[in-house]
Amino acid sequence: MTRKVTKAVFPVAGLGTRFLPATKSIPKEILTLVDRPLIQYAIDEARAAGITEFIFVTSRGKAALEDYFDDAPELEASLKAKKKTAILEELEKTNMPSGAIAYVRQRKALGLGHAVWCARRMIGDEPFAVILTDDVIAADKPCLAQMIEAYEENPGNYVAAMEVPSSKISAYGVLDCEPVTPNTVKVKGMVEKPPAEEAPSNLAVIGRYILTPEILKHIDDAIASKTTGAGGEYQLTDSIAQEIDAGNPVYGFRFKGQRYDCGTKAGFLQATVAFGLARDDLRDEFAEYLADAIGMQSAAE
Ligand code: UTP
Repeated sequence: MTRKVTKAVFPVAGLGTRFLPATKSIPKEILTLVDRPLIQYAIDEARAAGITEFIFVTSRGKAALEDYFDDAPELEASLKAKKKTAILEELEKTNMPSGAIAYVRQRKALGLGHAVWCARRMIGDEPFAVILTDDVIAADKPCLAQMIEAYEENPGNYVAAMEVPSSKISAYGVLDCEPVTPNTVKVKGMVEKPPAEEAPSNLAVIGRYILTPEILKHIDDAIASKTTGAGGEYQLTDSIAQEIDAGNPVYGFRFKGQRYDCGTKAGFLQATVAFGLARDDLRDEFAEYLADAIGMQSAAE
């Protein structure tokens, strides 16, 4: 019987250099889209997919993330006293049950594969999900839930995949693949950050994965033999590609939804506009402002 996916790894140990100076003293994952930090969107997506164990791979300077999911007794008491029940409810949604979140340190940012490997003892011998908080995906059915459904129908390793224009493909892991179903491709190979002319397809890997525990063994081997990949880092895609070589299935999953790359400033701004416009309490005022701002910009040109 296929084992249920109940654990998710959130690698949040990166340096976040593209958002300096903001990320000098706050983790990138605490940056907010409207009024919720990126990490909240990721946790909500995992919960909606049935995840019950949340493993954070952290590093120095990420203490704000641990506090974020804890109770805030003074704040809660003050909101209760002032009868601010709506805000209180929003706040309580951020509390996680004791024991549901575990934190493990990655001492050096040696790459995404290495970050996932740091969680190996907590993952154990089970399939697990990986969520990169930079990729925020707005979807009717959350992306990870779509992927877990596909995994339960047809087990194997899964990476979320999306078509990307050739001008941007060199920023991604790219799939060499053939179609299996309308949503799924069978992966024959993966290349991390290829030059556009060498990209095997226009299907790029996005930050959602369902992985079998064998992947950890491949990362283990890479670390033991100091075999790094693109950028001198232990790349997760390299270890997933080894699963293909070992004859185990790896699928690319074309999810339904709109993905925002919140690891870049332009993507973060786009997400802010989209999530602002999606909010009933902000839409009218915000849309009016945007229309005026664009009008002013065009007039000035
Ligand atoms: P990025 O490549 O976006 O790196 O990592 P980053 O440090 O977060 O951001 P920039 O490029 O310096 O602006 C993708 C994801 O992998 C995690 C990051 O936290 C991010 O969620 N990661 C990356 C680690 O946890 N450890 C690493 O060694 C590398």
